[in-house]
Amino acid sequence: MRVLFVCLGNICRSPTAEGVLRHKLREAGLSEQVEVASAGTGDWHVGNPPDKRSQSAAKRRGYDLSAQRAQQVSRADFAAYDLILAMDNSNLRNLKALQPATGKAELDLFLRRYAGEVDEVPDPYYDGEHGFEHVLDLIERASDLLVIELKGRL
Ligand code: 4NP
Repeated sequence: MRVLFVCLGNICRSPTAEGVLRHKLREAGLSEQVEVASAGTGDWHVGNPPDKRSQSAAKRRGYDLSAQRAQQVSRADFAAYDLILAMDNSNLRNLKALQPATGKAELDLFLRRYAGEVDEVPDPYYDGEHGFEHVLDLIERASDLLVIELKGRL
């Protein structure tokens, strides 16, 4: 099973989701069965590590994002991944425009499937520290539910 998280720049939200889900999969003993990656719809930050503010906020909760490097999502990803999860509606629209007619990937908003009351992870790029903590709160909760779903699908 392969899961791809997608945001705009692949330096804040989707790298955070990648790091959190990977950590939770390890705790659940599912690291071998589920592969996690992230990408951005834009290419501005390709090759760069996650934003320092995302790295620091994640590190305080025990997630190490430092080895990640930004990449841009491609049409081939729709054949390579089983589940592609967008952080906001704009990301989802851009992914739908890129999605080939064939391809196995299921495409959805991360929070619509796994959290409930809010369906977008807000872009923290122009926010203060609180924005990065809020991103982590939403992602941690949704990832717990995603791990349960993945367990059922393996
Ligand atoms: P992300 O945040 O989509 O969560 O990685 C952003 C990062 C960079 C930019 C926008 C959003 N930017 O405009 O450069």
